[in-house]
Amino acid sequence: MLNASFTVDPSFRVGAVDPRLYGSFVEHMGRCVYSGIYEPGHADADGDGFRTDVADLVRELGVPIVRYPGGNFVSGYRWEDGIGPVRDRPRRLDLAWRSVETNEVGVAEFVRWAATVGAAPMMAVNLGTRGIEAARDLVEFCNVPGGTAWSDLRGGDPYGIKVWCLGNEMDGPWQIGHKTAHEYARLASETARAMRQVDPGIELVACGSSGRAMPTFGSWEATVLAEAYDVVDYVSAHAYYEQHGDDRDSFLACATDMDQFIEEVVATADHVRAVGRHRKRINISFDEWNVWYLSRFAGEKNLDIRERPRLIEDVYSVTDAVVVGNLLISLLRHADRVKIGCLAQLVNVIAPIMTEPGGPAWRQASFHPFALTSTYGRGTVLRVEPVAPCHETGAYGQVPLLDAVAVRPDEGGLVLFAVNRSQTEPMTLDVDLRALTGLTGAEHVALAHEDPDAVNTMAQPDRVRPRRLDEPKLDGGALSSVLPPLSWNMIRLTEG
Ligand code: AHR
Repeated sequence: MLNASFTVDPSFRVGAVDPRLYGSFVEHMGRCVYSGIYEPGHADADGDGFRTDVADLVRELGVPIVRYPGGNFVSGYRWEDGIGPVRDRPRRLDLAWRSVETNEVGVAEFVRWAATVGAAPMMAVNLGTRGIEAARDLVEFCNVPGGTAWSDLRGGDPYGIKVWCLGNEMDGPWQIGHKTAHEYARLASETARAMRQVDPGIELVACGSSGRAMPTFGSWEATVLAEAYDVVDYVSAHAYYEQHGDDRDSFLACATDMDQFIEEVVATADHVRAVGRHRKRINISFDEWNVWYLSRFAGEKNLDIRERPRLIEDVYSVTDAVVVGNLLISLLRHADRVKIGCLAQLVNVIAPIMTEPGGPAWRQASFHPFALTSTYGRGTVLRVEPVAPCHETGAYGQVPLLDAVAVRPDEGGLVLFAVNRSQTEPMTLDVDLRALTGLTGAEHVALAHEDPDAVNTMAQPDRVRPRRLDEPKLDGGALSSVLPPLSWNMIRLTEG
C-alpha cells in the first residue's frame, strides 16, 4: 500500500475557477456536426434537426462554452455559405479534412443549438484563406442589433457572442494559409482592431503555438503578443496526449507536460508584459486538449473525399479517462491564468459522447471525470502540496504517483480531485483539514476498473462508470481514504 498526504488551507488560494474552463469544441469535422449533434430524420431530432438525446448528454457533461466551427476547418471556411435558406447553400470541398461540407448547419443553427444546451458560442474566424473583412462582417452579422446589411440578414436578436478566436493553429504547416509569427501577428492585430470597432465588448484569443513541441514554441507567442498585446485578451494553447507503445507510466504522467506548457506560456506572456510596460495580463485559452491517438491517424492527405466520414473516432479506455481527469486537475491548478478550456471535441471526433446514425448516443469513459469535475469543481482552487512517492517515467523522469487539487465551492464544503498513477498499488491518502471547520459528511467517487483497457461501446455503454467507494474516514481535522490503483477520484465534503 502506498501512502500520500497533503494539507488543505482556505487561505492558500490559487484563484476562482472560471466556469469556461469546462468548455468544449464542435468542429465541422468527421461526424461531430453531421450525425453527431445534428441528424434530421433521427427519432430524437428536434424541429431544427438537432438530436435531443445528444443535447441531453451535452447538458449532463456541463459545457458552458463551445468553440466553433474549427479547428483546421475554419482556415478554409466561408461563413456566408452557411446562412440563408438551407436549400440554396453550396456544397463545398473542405480541404482541411478532405470532406464535403453541405453547409446545412451554419452560424445561426449553431447558435440556436448552443442555447438549447446552455452553452455560449466561442466563434473562430478564418485567418487562413481570409482576413479582416470576413471577420469584421461576421461580428456584424452576429452582434450588431440591426439596421446594417449583415445584421439585417441575420434578423432577430443579436447573438452577443463574447469570445472570438483569431484563426486556428496558424503556426502549423498543415494549416491552410499558415503563417510566420510576424505575418500572423500583423494580421491578427489588424483583424482584432476591426472586430473590436464593430463590437468593443468582445474578448479575443490570439493563436499560440499549436503545441509545445513546435520548433517555434515560445518565440511564436513572444512575437505575436509583442505585436497584439493591447488588442487581445488570451493566447491559445493546444495539447493532445496518447500512450506510446507499452509506456503507460509516462502516459499517466502527461499532466506534468501540461503543467510545464501552461507555466511556459504564462512566463512568455508576462515577459512581453514587462517589456511593453503593459498593465493588463494576458491569460490562457487552452482551447484544444484531450487524449488523441494521433499516431493511429493516417493523416488528412490520405482521406477520400466524403460527407461526414468517420474520422478519428477514438474509443477511450478507463486509462484514457484517468488521464483526462488528471489533465483537468492541471487546468484547475492554473485557474489563476487559464480562464478558458475546450475539451476537443464534443461528439464522435475524439469525443466524450458517441453516436450511431439512426441509433443511440452514449458516454465514453472520459465523459465521467469531465462531467463530475465540471459539476463539482466550481468555486476557488486551493493550492495543495502533496507528499507522495515518486517513480521514474521514460518521458518525464521522476514524477509523483499522486496528483491532486482542492476546490472550495462558494457555498462551502470542499472537493478534492486526485489521481493515483500507480498501475498496481492502492494508495492511502491522508488529508489535513484542520484549517477548515464544520466539514461533516464525505463522499468518495472513483473511476477505476480491473481491466485498464476497459471501454464503453454501443453494446456496453456503461462498462466504465464512476462508482461510490466506502465513505472516507473523517476524524476531527483528518480525512483518510484509499485510492484504487490507476484511478481518478473525487472526494466531496459537505459543511454544516
Ligand atoms: O481537433 C482536431 C484538430 O486538431 C483541429 O482541427 C486542429 O485545430 C488540431 O490540430
